[in-house]
Amino acid sequence: MPHLIAPSVLSANFANLQADIEMINNSEADWFHVDVMDGVFVPNISFGFPVLKSLQKLAKKPLDVHLMIYNPFAYIEPFIQAGADSITFHVEATEDVEETLQYIRRCSVKAGLAVNPETSLSLVLPYLTLCDLLLLMTVHPGFGGQLMKEEVLEKVTDVRAWIEQHKLSEKLEIQVDGGIDLTNTPRCVQAGANVLVAGTSLYGKADLQAAIAEMRQHANASRLKK
Ligand code: DX5
Ligand code: ZN
Repeated sequence: MPHLIAPSVLSANFANLQADIEMINNSEADWFHVDVMDGVFVPNISFGFPVLKSLQKLAKKPLDVHLMIYNPFAYIEPFIQAGADSITFHVEATEDVEETLQYIRRCSVKAGLAVNPETSLSLVLPYLTLCDLLLLMTVHPGFGGQLMKEEVLEKVTDVRAWIEQHKLSEKLEIQVDGGIDLTNTPRCVQAGANVLVAGTSLYGKADLQAAIAEMRQHANASRLKK
Protein backbone atom coordinates (compact mmCIF):
# COMPACT_ATOMS: atom_id res chain seq x y z
CA MET A 1 0.00 0.00 0.00
CA PRO A 2 1.30 3.51 -0.72
CA HIS A 3 2.33 5.80 2.10
CA LEU A 4 -0.30 8.40 2.80
CA ILE A 5 0.13 11.72 4.61
CA ALA A 6 -2.87 13.05 6.53
CA PRO A 7 -2.33 16.52 8.04
CA SER A 8 -4.40 17.05 11.16
CA VAL A 9 -6.82 19.96 10.86
CA LEU A 10 -6.62 20.38 14.64
CA SER A 11 -3.35 22.26 14.13
CA ALA A 12 -4.77 24.59 11.46
CA ASN A 13 -5.43 28.28 11.92
CA PHE A 14 -9.18 28.42 12.67
CA ALA A 15 -9.23 32.17 12.17
CA ASN A 16 -8.37 31.54 8.54
CA LEU A 17 -9.29 27.94 7.89
CA GLN A 18 -9.90 28.51 4.21
CA ALA A 19 -6.27 29.46 3.60
CA ASP A 20 -5.03 26.31 5.34
CA ILE A 21 -7.50 24.09 3.48
CA GLU A 22 -6.38 25.52 0.16
CA MET A 23 -2.78 24.99 1.13
CA ILE A 24 -3.50 21.31 1.83
CA ASN A 25 -5.52 21.03 -1.42
CA ASN A 26 -2.46 22.21 -3.34
CA SER A 27 0.00 20.05 -1.45
CA GLU A 28 1.14 16.44 -1.67
CA ALA A 29 -1.10 15.50 1.26
CA ASP A 30 -3.52 12.64 0.70
CA TRP A 31 -6.28 13.18 3.28
CA PHE A 32 -7.52 15.77 5.74
CA HIS A 33 -7.42 14.22 9.24
CA VAL A 34 -10.32 15.61 11.26
CA ASP A 35 -10.27 15.13 15.05
CA VAL A 36 -13.64 15.25 16.79
CA MET A 37 -13.50 15.31 20.61
CA ASP A 38 -16.44 15.27 22.98
CA GLY A 39 -14.86 16.39 26.27
CA VAL A 40 -15.94 13.08 27.86
CA PHE A 41 -14.04 10.30 26.10
CA VAL A 42 -11.07 12.66 26.00
CA PRO A 43 -10.45 15.72 28.20
CA ASN A 44 -10.80 18.20 25.35
CA ILE A 45 -13.47 19.54 22.99
CA SER A 46 -12.54 20.30 19.40
CA PHE A 47 -15.26 20.92 16.81
CA GLY A 48 -18.24 19.24 15.21
CA PHE A 49 -20.63 19.31 12.28
CA PRO A 50 -20.55 23.00 11.26
CA VAL A 51 -16.76 22.97 10.88
CA LEU A 52 -16.82 19.66 9.03
CA LYS A 53 -19.49 20.95 6.64
CA SER A 54 -17.39 24.03 5.91
CA LEU A 55 -14.37 21.84 5.31
CA GLN A 56 -16.33 19.66 2.94
CA LYS A 57 -17.22 22.66 0.76
CA LEU A 58 -13.56 23.52 0.19
CA ALA A 59 -11.61 20.30 0.60
CA LYS A 60 -10.51 18.52 -2.55
CA LYS A 61 -9.16 15.49 -0.69
CA PRO A 62 -10.93 12.87 1.45
CA LEU A 63 -12.01 13.80 4.97
CA ASP A 64 -10.68 11.21 7.41
CA VAL A 65 -12.78 11.68 10.54
CA HIS A 66 -11.32 10.46 13.84
CA LEU A 67 -14.05 10.31 16.48
CA MET A 68 -12.87 10.59 20.06
CA ILE A 69 -16.40 10.37 21.41
CA TYR A 70 -18.55 7.91 23.33
CA ASN A 71 -21.47 6.25 21.56
CA PRO A 72 -20.10 6.76 18.03
CA PHE A 73 -22.93 4.73 16.47
CA ALA A 74 -25.42 7.51 17.14
CA TYR A 75 -23.35 10.02 15.15
CA ILE A 76 -22.35 8.06 12.06
CA GLU A 77 -25.16 9.30 9.87
CA PRO A 78 -24.72 13.01 10.65
CA PHE A 79 -20.97 12.73 10.14
CA ILE A 80 -21.51 11.15 6.74
CA GLN A 81 -23.96 13.90 5.87
CA ALA A 82 -21.38 16.44 6.96
CA GLY A 83 -18.87 14.98 4.49
CA ALA A 84 -16.85 12.19 6.15
CA ASP A 85 -15.14 9.82 3.69
CA SER A 86 -13.86 7.57 6.45
CA ILE A 87 -15.00 7.28 10.04
CA THR A 88 -12.73 5.92 12.75
CA PHE A 89 -13.97 5.37 16.30
CA HIS A 90 -12.26 4.00 19.41
CA VAL A 91 -12.55 0.39 20.52
CA GLU A 92 -12.59 1.78 24.08
CA ALA A 93 -15.61 4.02 23.36
CA THR A 94 -18.35 1.50 22.63
CA GLU A 95 -19.51 -2.04 23.29
CA ASP A 96 -21.01 -2.25 19.80
CA VAL A 97 -17.78 -2.41 17.81
CA GLU A 98 -18.94 -4.94 15.24
CA GLU A 99 -22.32 -3.31 14.67
CA THR A 100 -20.73 0.13 14.32
CA LEU A 101 -18.08 -1.02 11.80
CA GLN A 102 -20.70 -2.85 9.75
CA TYR A 103 -23.00 0.14 9.74
CA ILE A 104 -20.23 2.50 8.57
CA ARG A 105 -19.42 0.14 5.72
CA ARG A 106 -23.06 -0.26 4.76
CA CYS A 107 -23.11 3.52 4.33
CA SER A 108 -20.28 3.16 1.75
CA VAL A 109 -17.79 5.00 3.91
CA LYS A 110 -14.43 3.55 5.02
CA ALA A 111 -14.61 2.06 8.51
CA GLY A 112 -11.76 2.61 10.95
CA LEU A 113 -11.04 1.37 14.45
CA ALA A 114 -8.73 3.29 16.79
CA VAL A 115 -6.84 1.97 19.79
CA ASN A 116 -5.22 3.89 22.62
CA PRO A 117 -1.51 3.38 23.46
CA GLU A 118 -2.16 1.28 26.55
CA THR A 119 -4.97 -0.86 25.08
CA SER A 120 -4.03 -4.40 24.09
CA LEU A 121 -4.10 -5.34 20.43
CA SER A 122 -6.10 -8.41 21.37
CA LEU A 123 -9.12 -6.14 21.68
CA VAL A 124 -9.02 -5.10 18.02
CA LEU A 125 -7.75 -8.23 16.24
CA PRO A 126 -11.19 -9.92 16.15
CA TYR A 127 -12.59 -6.97 14.19
CA LEU A 128 -9.87 -6.38 11.61
CA THR A 129 -11.69 -8.16 8.78
CA LEU A 130 -14.46 -5.59 9.22
CA CYS A 131 -12.08 -2.60 9.04
CA ASP A 132 -10.59 -0.58 6.23
CA LEU A 133 -8.34 1.29 8.64
CA LEU A 134 -6.67 0.62 11.97
CA LEU A 135 -5.52 3.69 13.87
CA LEU A 136 -2.83 3.12 16.49
CA MET A 137 -2.66 6.13 18.77
CA THR A 138 0.95 7.06 19.43
CA VAL A 139 -0.05 9.54 22.17
CA HIS A 140 -2.94 9.65 24.64
CA PRO A 141 -5.76 11.10 22.56
CA GLY A 142 -7.07 14.58 23.23
CA PHE A 143 -4.33 17.01 22.37
CA GLY A 144 -1.92 17.79 19.58
CA GLY A 145 1.70 18.63 20.28
CA GLN A 146 2.66 15.61 22.41
CA LEU A 147 5.73 13.40 21.98
CA MET A 148 5.25 10.11 20.18
CA LYS A 149 5.26 7.07 22.46
CA GLU A 150 8.02 4.89 21.03
CA GLU A 151 6.64 1.75 22.66
CA VAL A 152 3.59 1.84 20.35
CA LEU A 153 5.87 1.00 17.41
CA GLU A 154 6.10 -2.52 18.77
CA LYS A 155 2.34 -2.78 18.42
CA VAL A 156 2.59 -1.50 14.86
CA THR A 157 5.14 -4.22 14.07
CA ASP A 158 2.97 -6.89 15.70
CA VAL A 159 -0.22 -5.87 13.95
CA ARG A 160 1.55 -5.59 10.58
CA ALA A 161 2.79 -9.16 11.02
CA TRP A 162 -0.70 -10.30 12.01
CA ILE A 163 -2.39 -8.74 9.00
CA GLU A 164 0.21 -10.17 6.62
CA GLN A 165 -0.32 -13.57 8.14
CA HIS A 166 -4.06 -13.19 7.65
CA LYS A 167 -3.65 -11.84 4.11
CA LEU A 168 -5.28 -8.51 4.90
CA SER A 169 -2.37 -6.26 3.88
CA GLU A 170 -4.02 -5.09 0.69
CA LYS A 171 -7.27 -4.24 2.44
CA LEU A 172 -6.27 -2.56 5.67
CA GLU A 173 -4.47 0.75 6.16
CA ILE A 174 -2.39 1.10 9.32
CA GLN A 175 -2.45 4.63 10.61
CA VAL A 176 -0.31 6.21 13.34
CA ASP A 177 -1.46 9.40 15.02
CA GLY A 178 0.24 11.60 17.60
CA GLY A 179 3.68 13.17 17.70
CA ILE A 180 4.63 12.03 14.20
CA ASP A 181 7.50 14.07 12.75
CA LEU A 182 10.39 13.72 10.33
CA THR A 183 12.65 12.06 12.86
CA ASN A 184 10.25 9.21 13.69
CA THR A 185 8.62 8.84 10.24
CA PRO A 186 11.20 6.23 9.12
CA ARG A 187 10.64 4.14 12.27
CA CYS A 188 6.85 4.28 11.84
CA VAL A 189 7.09 3.15 8.22
CA GLN A 190 9.63 0.45 9.01
CA ALA A 191 7.35 -0.87 11.73
CA GLY A 192 4.55 -1.13 9.16
CA ALA A 193 2.44 2.04 9.28
CA ASN A 194 1.33 3.37 5.91
CA VAL A 195 -0.81 6.36 6.92
CA LEU A 196 0.93 9.12 8.85
CA VAL A 197 -1.19 11.68 10.67
CA ALA A 198 0.69 14.81 11.66
CA GLY A 199 -0.36 18.16 13.07
CA THR A 200 2.21 20.12 15.02
CA SER A 201 5.25 18.92 13.08
CA LEU A 202 3.75 20.03 9.75
CA TYR A 203 1.93 23.22 10.78
CA GLY A 204 4.89 24.24 12.93
CA LYS A 205 7.02 24.70 9.83
CA ALA A 206 7.08 28.00 7.96
CA ASP A 207 6.23 26.23 4.70
CA LEU A 208 3.44 23.70 5.27
CA GLN A 209 3.52 22.33 1.74
CA ALA A 210 7.28 21.79 1.81
CA ALA A 211 6.93 20.07 5.19
CA ILE A 212 4.35 17.66 3.74
CA ALA A 213 6.57 16.92 0.74
CA GLU A 214 9.51 16.30 3.05
CA MET A 215 7.51 13.88 5.21
CA ARG A 216 6.49 11.99 2.09
CA GLN A 217 10.13 11.77 0.96
CA HIS A 218 11.13 10.42 4.37
CA ALA A 219 8.31 7.86 4.23
CA ASN A 220 9.15 6.74 0.71
CA ALA A 221 12.83 6.44 1.55
CA SER A 222 12.04 4.07 4.44
CA ARG A 223 10.92 0.54 3.84
CA LEU A 224 8.95 -1.88 5.87
CA LYS A 225 11.42 -4.11 7.74
CA LYS A 226 10.74 -7.77 6.96
C1 DX5 B 1 -4.71 13.67 19.13
C2 DX5 B 1 -5.25 13.68 17.74
C3 DX5 B 1 -4.23 13.87 16.69
C4 DX5 B 1 -3.50 15.19 16.76
C5 DX5 B 1 -2.12 14.97 16.20
O1 DX5 B 1 -5.65 13.21 20.00
O2 DX5 B 1 -5.91 12.46 17.44
O3 DX5 B 1 -4.75 13.68 15.39
O4 DX5 B 1 -4.13 16.21 16.05
O5 DX5 B 1 -1.40 16.10 16.41
P1 DX5 B 1 0.17 16.10 16.62
O6 DX5 B 1 0.78 15.66 15.31
O7 DX5 B 1 0.46 17.49 16.96
O8 DX5 B 1 0.49 15.11 17.72
ZN1 ZN C 1 -6.47 12.04 15.29
